[in-house]
Amino acid sequence: MDHLENRKFKRYLGYCLVVSSVLIFWKVMTIEKDNSLLLGNLKDRLRAYQYKLQLTPKQTMLLNMLENDKHLEDMPFIYAITPTYYRYVQKAELTKISQTLMLVPNIHWIIVEDSEEKTALVTNLIAESGLKVTHLTAKTPPFEKLQAKEPRWKRHRGVEQRNKGLSWLRSNMQLGKDKGYVYFMDDDNTYSIKIFSEIMKIKNVGVWPVGLVGGFSVETPILNKQTGKVESYKSGWKPQRPFAIDMAGFAISLDLILQKSDASFSYKMEKGFQESQFLSYFTTKEELEPLADNCTKVYVWHTRTENPVVMAKVKGYEV
Ligand code: UGA
Ligand code: MN
Repeated sequence: MDHLENRKFKRYLGYCLVVSSVLIFWKVMTIEKDNSLLLGNLKDRLRAYQYKLQLTPKQTMLLNMLENDKHLEDMPFIYAITPTYYRYVQKAELTKISQTLMLVPNIHWIIVEDSEEKTALVTNLIAESGLKVTHLTAKTPPFEKLQAKEPRWKRHRGVEQRNKGLSWLRSNMQLGKDKGYVYFMDDDNTYSIKIFSEIMKIKNVGVWPVGLVGGFSVETPILNKQTGKVESYKSGWKPQRPFAIDMAGFAISLDLILQKSDASFSYKMEKGFQESQFLSYFTTKEELEPLADNCTKVYVWHTRTENPVVMAKVKGYEV
């Protein structure tokens, strides 16, 4: 008798198990369906209202990625290294550059202050930007610092800071695993967001024209008509340099930066030859990849902000 009861009970238990599994399975299936339906609806509505919502190129790109089930984390990042130092126009410069970067989806901003410690001004600006940022400091040694009355070409600028950015990348990124590009983005230039789509095309080292530098309206690589490769440079200042290119006129793949781990900037470099000597670690003129429509378009300008005459500092304002 007991034996029979036991078998009945077991059968009952088995029945309950099957029913509950079916129920759970059904619930899970409908939740997933609900979610994908919801996501589908959201995508449709975003598409329909794309113009009303005034989606930026960045948001449109993210929408396209969402539709194709691609994720931002899988995209190669552009590591933009920016040296910056305190002067009256610093906040204005950093506001301008950070708001450009806000329009780019895959930016990792490495901002390196020329100071002993992180300043409140830069820390707050970074927090408000909502950007993915690594905030570092590297003070220029006093003997290398440009003195008030010296012409600016007398000293190298940004050396310590760019090297700090490079060593951060080399100790935090893994060759073969992390993919991306490195761009030295001075805090006073003007950048079109178009430059970032160009950078995404780079295999090793990409180059393009820079407006308002080197004494001409534009400084640019000149391409050989047959091969489409860089042949020489148009520049108002020493066009015979190995690479007559401004810091804003090239970017390098993260792979190369990690491979050539001894490549860095130095005060020993000849004045005005930082770019040439740095690029020599990585490439040759023949290997350069011309971008910006075969170096026919200007997407970055070497602007310099005038030093304002400030007669008095008004209390209570952070300018
Ligand atoms: C030109 C190039 O565009 C620079 O990339 C290059 O470093 C420089 O020449 C040079 O040959 O050293 P220029 O406009 O004359 O640039 O230089 P700045 O814009 O005054 O400085 C370049 C970067 O270094 C800026 O991001 C600036 O904020 C930073 N910097 C400058 C410091 O961090 N500390 C300083 O004392 C001065
Ligand atoms: Mn500059």
